[in-house]
Amino acid sequence: MNYKATYLAKTFFGLEDILVEELQNLGARKVTPGKRAVSFEGDKTLLYKANLHLRTALRILVPVHQFTAKNEHQLYKNVQSLNWSKFINKRDTFAIDSTVHSGYFKHSKYIALKTKDAIVDQFRKHYNMRPSIDVINPTVRLHLHIREDMCSISLDSSGDSLHKRGYRTATNRAPINEVLAAGMIMLSGWRGDAPFLDLMCGSGTIPCEAALLAQNVAPGTFREKFGFFSWKDYDKKLWQEVKEEAKTLEVPLECPIMATDVSQKTIEIARGNLAHPAFEDIRMSRKDFFEYTPKYETGLLLINPPYGERFVQQNITDFYGNIGDKLKQNYNGYTAWIISSNKTAMKSIGLRPSKRLTLYNGSLECKFHRFDLYSGSKKNKK
Ligand SMILES: C[S@@+](CC[C@H](N)C(=O)[O-])C[C@H]1O[C@@H](n2cnc3c(N)ncnc32)[C@H](O)[C@@H]1O
Repeated sequence: MNYKATYLAKTFFGLEDILVEELQNLGARKVTPGKRAVSFEGDKTLLYKANLHLRTALRILVPVHQFTAKNEHQLYKNVQSLNWSKFINKRDTFAIDSTVHSGYFKHSKYIALKTKDAIVDQFRKHYNMRPSIDVINPTVRLHLHIREDMCSISLDSSGDSLHKRGYRTATNRAPINEVLAAGMIMLSGWRGDAPFLDLMCGSGTIPCEAALLAQNVAPGTFREKFGFFSWKDYDKKLWQEVKEEAKTLEVPLECPIMATDVSQKTIEIARGNLAHPAFEDIRMSRKDFFEYTPKYETGLLLINPPYGERFVQQNITDFYGNIGDKLKQNYNGYTAWIISSNKTAMKSIGLRPSKRLTLYNGSLECKFHRFDLYSGSKKNKK
């Protein structure tokens, strides 16, 4: 049955508004942003589309059981008040992730264990058989969320996080998360309408996400598996239809995408990631940013330079100062976006950002800066 339900799409801090836009474009109803998440309403078709199309969602949860509990005993009892065989088969394997922000419950792992016990005991009682636990590759993944005494258990329709697109074969040392990369491109406003340059491309995540966006290729196209494939109500025919429709929405690439990096080894790794036809027009080569001259009069430059944390850079402040000088000399007419966690180094760029957004690259708080490079935007360097 293609019934209506409420879903929760999880994302990174700072990408909520972009995710709202994506969900509205997919036809979701009651789209409501929260903290690192957006709730929405829709049917099963929309759930499948959300998993396939959303660039800035990490996973799509389906809340199935909500209750209040102030201690372990109440939690155990209330978990059991739902008939779990509606969602889990005896032969399934399952896992429970948990997030707990509560004065009543302290240890999220222990609480997840209690929840698992309640479910397993219910199966044992009714069937004399129990589903097994598999934390790595379960057929059913559950998510328990507790805020004070409000408990919510959801089915995770995505399974593996949606940032695992399936196109990456290898990575360099500090690849950016695909969801963050797509979010940054979308925050920049670029939609495949101007030359795109990532001149410190590393393993190529940013140009790959740019190519997918520009060609309207659904980011889930390459994935072999989603969590809902092993659900009892999985509708394979509907999934095929959703995938086939996605193919018809693809468009040709209309603008150049340039991807360069100073490291030959990194470029070789990135090339391995670009095997799919969706990436065949990305122009990739080994080049030093400081020796590169842009070929187009205008365009969008989006870079994720070393922050001086994971990379050993002789003098990170000078390095950023040189980036600023290069932008001023060669990129008149361009818009540049730079993400970095290094506030001191960013200051030495010597340009006034017209926008400064907060994002997180893993656990690092970063600022994502926009520089409009036309004469007059320059701040005098002291
Ligand atoms: C943080 S990593 C970028 C990671 C990339 N966004 C990804 O997803 O894999 C920074 C990259 O800047 C490159 N880099 C450092 N100095 C450079 C320079 N002078 N010119 C071009 N690339 C440079 C490094 O080789 C490294 O791959």
